[in-house]
Amino acid sequence: MKTIIEPFRIKVVEPIRMTTPAERARLLAEAGYNVFLLRSEDVLLDLLTDSGTSAMSAEQWAGMMRGDEAYAGSPSWYRFEEAVQEIFGFEHVIPTHQGRAAERILFSTLCGPGDIVPSNTHFDTTRANVEAVGARALDIPIPEGLRPQDPHPFKGNLDTDRLEALFREHGAERIPLVMLTLTNNSGGGQPVSLANVRAVSELCRAHGVPLYIDACRFAENAFLIRLREEGQAERGVPEIVREIFSLAEGCTMSAKKDGLANIGGFVATRDPALARRQRNLLILTEGFPTYGGLAGRDLEAIAIGLREVLDHDYLEYRLASVRYLGERIAAGGVPIVEPPGGHAVYIDAAGFLPQVAPLELPGQTLVAELYLEGGIRGVEVGTVMFGRRDPETGEESPAPMELVRLALPRRVYTQSHVDYMVEAILAFAGRRDEVGGFRFTHQEPVLRHFTARFEPLYPFDEGTSSTGL
Ligand code: F0G
Repeated sequence: MKTIIEPFRIKVVEPIRMTTPAERARLLAEAGYNVFLLRSEDVLLDLLTDSGTSAMSAEQWAGMMRGDEAYAGSPSWYRFEEAVQEIFGFEHVIPTHQGRAAERILFSTLCGPGDIVPSNTHFDTTRANVEAVGARALDIPIPEGLRPQDPHPFKGNLDTDRLEALFREHGAERIPLVMLTLTNNSGGGQPVSLANVRAVSELCRAHGVPLYIDACRFAENAFLIRLREEGQAERGVPEIVREIFSLAEGCTMSAKKDGLANIGGFVATRDPALARRQRNLLILTEGFPTYGGLAGRDLEAIAIGLREVLDHDYLEYRLASVRYLGERIAAGGVPIVEPPGGHAVYIDAAGFLPQVAPLELPGQTLVAELYLEGGIRGVEVGTVMFGRRDPETGEESPAPMELVRLALPRRVYTQSHVDYMVEAILAFAGRRDEVGGFRFTHQEPVLRHFTARFEPLYPFDEGTSSTGL
């Protein structure tokens, strides 16, 4: 059969509420046009993030009931530890409440002031945790990774020539570790090839520098290797995963992504001395090493989710649904980061709304318009998130790319939901020439995108929504 279907039946449903364009125009104005400030009940299709938003399986819910809440040595912990050891091959496993806690523990035990941590592209929490210990987070993606329309199949790859040059210049003394983010979320959800992991690992080993993997979307990356990389089509996903992680010294993980869980994470390593220091830090802020800030029931849900995510039918459906959304809107003339990656479609808002200058916030404009048009909530990944305002002069500088991410929660929406997204996005595409931009009316000095408020620089009301969906 050519049709790829959702490989599950639905046992529990959660109603979503239709709203009218007039209601949405009012709600947006009340939220200062910042979709982070909307109530989620007022969102019809929520594509803000794929993090912590997965639907759990019947097995995971059964595991939640089996969860053992002993403070120390719970059987739920042993099931969690065994799943991580078996899938990733690392001996020492340290549970954390989510990914950024794993990052904090990793960087505060491996780096210090003046160090450099190269990566294909650090995610924002990863960068912030590197910088919090006084080190420098350096992104060295391949050049194709920064060109939205380039069809390169592995735009998440790290530039190995630049890595070699860095090693020659700074040596192992200044580079305590190298990170690879699988898939590259900040760079458009693009995968890293197995060949690139091998090449980076070889360089790291030659210079005595440990390679760590940000494993958030490891299964999606492995399936994209199977689909796109020569010689990998016949291999099973668990085997590809084992090879990827055999090339690294450890990893950090947010189980809110490919753990198919709503909370949780871990840091894992082969180094027993490092693991000892990390456990000491864990006890200080997260919890005892057999629960690390999680309930026993969460450990169960993650242990089961990590195995379920490797299922071939699940991954085939998962990547097909992202591809389906990307290909349909691209066919309707919407420029996206090509080719669609593992967890999200990224619209190139600068290319889509060329009349809106970067400092008039094309991504923010598109996010507001998609909510008005169809009750869809995406997220701006552009000047609002990564632009900078000079604290002295108030002068704004734009981000390198103006993207809008439409992240698909795992196992949550069906194909007709995706058809609706396509219809709404293309309806907006039909009137895109009529829109202007937005400007900030309020912003905070750090992580401004979460709390900023805006106002439109053009008439923005329900009259402009074309479909009345
Ligand atoms: N690394 C990557 C690549 C991520 O995408 C995230 C989270 C983290 C680390 C941090 O994990 O949230 O569990 O602390 N990304 C979410 C997102 C927030 O929407 O992309 P966390």
